[in-house]
Amino acid sequence: MVSSALPYANGDIHMGHLVEYIQSDIWARFQKLRGHLCTYVCAADAHGTPIMIKARQEGITPEQLVTRAAKVQHADLQAFDVEFDNFHTTHSDENEQLVRRIFKALRDAGHIYTKTIEQAFDAQEQMFLPDRFVKGGCPRCKTTDQYGDACENCGATYTPNDLIEPVSILSDSTPIWKESEHYFFKLSAFEDQLRAWMKSANLHQHITSKLDEWFETGLRDWDISRDAPYFGFQIPGTTDKYFYVWLDAPVGYLASFLQYCNNHPELDFDEYWLPGHDTETYHFIGKDIVYFHTLFWPAVLDGSGFRTPNSVFAHGFLTVNGKKMSKSRGTFINARTFINNIDHNHLRYYYAAKLGPGMDDIDLNLDDFIARVNSDLVGKLVNIASRCAGFISKRFDGHLADKLDNPTEFQDFAAAAETIAEHYERREYSKAMRLVMTLADQANRYIEDKKPWVMVKQKEQADDVQLVCTQGLNLFRSLMIYLTPVVPQLADKARALFQEGDWRWDSAQQPLLSTTIKPFKALLTRVEPEQVNKMVEQSKASSASPAAEKTKDGSSEISIDDFMKVDLRVAKIEKAEPVEGADKLLRLTLNLGDSDRQVFAGIKSAYKPDELAGRLVVAVANLKPRKMRFGLSEGMVLAAGPGGEEIFLLSADSGATPGMRIK
Ligand code: 2FM
Ligand code: ZN
Repeated sequence: MVSSALPYANGDIHMGHLVEYIQSDIWARFQKLRGHLCTYVCAADAHGTPIMIKARQEGITPEQLVTRAAKVQHADLQAFDVEFDNFHTTHSDENEQLVRRIFKALRDAGHIYTKTIEQAFDAQEQMFLPDRFVKGGCPRCKTTDQYGDACENCGATYTPNDLIEPVSILSDSTPIWKESEHYFFKLSAFEDQLRAWMKSANLHQHITSKLDEWFETGLRDWDISRDAPYFGFQIPGTTDKYFYVWLDAPVGYLASFLQYCNNHPELDFDEYWLPGHDTETYHFIGKDIVYFHTLFWPAVLDGSGFRTPNSVFAHGFLTVNGKKMSKSRGTFINARTFINNIDHNHLRYYYAAKLGPGMDDIDLNLDDFIARVNSDLVGKLVNIASRCAGFISKRFDGHLADKLDNPTEFQDFAAAAETIAEHYERREYSKAMRLVMTLADQANRYIEDKKPWVMVKQKEQADDVQLVCTQGLNLFRSLMIYLTPVVPQLADKARALFQEGDWRWDSAQQPLLSTTIKPFKALLTRVEPEQVNKMVEQSKASSASPAAEKTKDGSSEISIDDFMKVDLRVAKIEKAEPVEGADKLLRLTLNLGDSDRQVFAGIKSAYKPDELAGRLVVAVANLKPRKMRFGLSEGMVLAAGPGGEEIFLLSADSGATPGMRIK
């Protein structure tokens, strides 16, 4: 069983995600081509606060959001030939049953305890806040606007409690600290088991050195519960506690596999996930989630009587043109935008040519991408076939010769199968691609030496053309077999040219002779720089929509549509009064023509209440009412200026009347 990390069901698949899905899909396809029974599973990662909040903002249920996102994500991945045997969701019955079973087993074995902890709480929204839902100043370097878990400027890690002037990103209010009882998993008790697992799993050294660091620091017990409101599975025996998304997410691997087994009676779930069997289970993940997969996950499995995974493979991040993907540069490219412009085979090959077994980041350099795929896939690989197939079709009615011109060379290609297979097996894809391309160079040199295009013109050599082109096509065929896991669609086209059924890895051991090929059609086209430019432009344009991107000065851009949503009106201040207990606020009663509104405005430092009555100002009439400590604020008054005594209320023209719309 092979899995890829489960994508959060709240956004689109982008080029970064694709590194992992392509890496794992290649591996699963390779295993299948070798004749192994391999099941490749994935699922939508459905739970957690961000998904709950996003659904709320869109006015839909989290279930609706997740169903929609998962459908789009799955379709996008399929467009890149990422072919899961099963794609499920963590919000499923299978998953809930398994999570309960695991939790019960852990509790029965004494691996769970409860403890009261203090956590940031948004009193306005009436909910506990995950660390990343609190922002404030970094306690170390004082940079403002940092998340509650770590500083993006200096890299310090801390808790929201340490932030300077923390605010909830949900309501902008200052969080309070509130106690709640949480469930903990005793990770600290699993050090010995984890050290043993780490050895048996033959983890890449990049992972083991991380693990060594973590063992050194000491394993901390893991908080596996969250308070309501939360989108997830309720903890049995409670009314307001849920399993933390990171507990049920990896169980989603099992759930997806279980669903598949339920539909495929030849597969037995227990043979993969209970001890005492020689099946194999592997997880592909990104380097950011190694902690979850090499500490929590094997410990949870071990503690609940399940089998631990045979290994975990982690890859690095993707950069584009040497930098972090960026919306304004147009390098934050969604899978859909790529596929709308460029053949996905090109990307699969390019990633394969870059991927190794470790956690090094890989770079998608767009100029290099164009040069590389055009040179390797079109110039070297497909060229072998296009130089030979035409002669076979036109001169020999599509018939391949009954022998090879150079059997020894064919044998060289056949003998490379084992080395290439080892490279795939060890996820040394870049080495596999290099070897295949070296062989492609060799095949091209062979054709170059023979020059079938000259031979056809010389009567005495005309018949040998069939031998030479049969040789060339067979070399091409071997390489296409080796590349099947990487470019399956291209391999399908090549198989169709040879009119063959499914290939196996071993198919490259025997030449194809005395059969008929189909007339040659172009297998792959070059990537033109214009296509790439268009993709970049489209990525820039799509990021310019709702508040997605920051402008140079750090402010967010909005579209004209966003602006049109703001209902600006002329308002008359009927009454202005100080607010007890508030230094900066005045309570205004605004007349908006058709209604009166109470608005709290932070303008006390610049205005005396009695100089405001009767004044016409500009107000936002459709702002969502906000509960404040002093009462409900039902709008906003616009002003300019740096603050203090310099706050200038925007006044409406004297001809205006309350309620008039400002356009
Ligand atoms: O980091 C992520 O994107 C998570 N959604 C991955 C979950 S993998 C597994 F544990 F479910
Ligand atoms: Zn800092």
